[in-house]
Amino acid sequence: MLRATPNIFPQNRARDETGAQTPTQLFAEPGHRCSIRTMESVILARGDADGFDIALRRRGTDVYELIVNGAFAMDSVDHASEDALADLLPDGSTLVGGLGLGFTANRLLARGNRVDVVELSRDLIDWARSGLIPWLDLDAARLTVHHGDITATLAAPPAALGRSTWDGIALDVDNGPTFLIHDRNAKLYTASGIEAAWLRLNPGGRLAVWCEADSPKLEATLASLPAVDVGTQRVSVARQGREFAYPIYWVDKPS
Ligand SMILES: C[S@@+](CC[C@H](N)C(=O)[O-])C[C@H]1O[C@@H](n2cnc3c(N)ncnc32)[C@H](O)[C@@H]1O
Repeated sequence: MLRATPNIFPQNRARDETGAQTPTQLFAEPGHRCSIRTMESVILARGDADGFDIALRRRGTDVYELIVNGAFAMDSVDHASEDALADLLPDGSTLVGGLGLGFTANRLLARGNRVDVVELSRDLIDWARSGLIPWLDLDAARLTVHHGDITATLAAPPAALGRSTWDGIALDVDNGPTFLIHDRNAKLYTASGIEAAWLRLNPGGRLAVWCEADSPKLEATLASLPAVDVGTQRVSVARQGREFAYPIYWVDKPS
């Protein structure tokens, strides 16, 4: 899946009516050495219920994109890294920070896990519930999607969640600590934010954090926890002739 990597199309950018920078394709045309044409896309829904702008867009017939505050957040082309994030969690009860296009949640559900998702955007939840994201069923058994901020949830889980600790916690909000769409998310990746997540893990549980680029600071914060094991999985995604290796950091709590 393409993520909001700042320089993914350094020479080829265009803005659409959401104000987002969109991927473009280069076409050689008669009479022109080269011209840039934006891939055709339609806005399926757009809202600002939570005080920030969010849009769900479809590119061509089957590529879905999420645009947040004018930044291209993710698309559905290759969700290997979102799946890998799910695969890193143990079976059992799981908490996912950030619904996005729902790939991590779906993958966990497919393994028979109980999945709680905390999502910042009420609009996105409503669109998913109304069927705008074809592969996502918010009424699926074992899935509960809560509207809220994962940082606050980890600090003090609301009673509506029905539990306050999980066997696995996956954090995939914005694009990791190195590319924040919401400034407020910086707190999630601080020592106190990570400590809050650690305290929400059951014994033997695992915390995994998706990142768009290496973050030595986050790595050091995770390494400072009293973990039995800590590691990084890099997931390669090829796009537009370029290769991206997204790091997913994980840390295991003693049993
Ligand atoms: C990149 S997407 C997640 C991708 C997801 N793993 C998937 O499989 O599609 C990031 C999501 O996190 C949400 N988000 C951002 N900040 C958040 C926060 N503080 N708490 C909860 N969700 C948040 C965004 O609205 C967006 O839906």
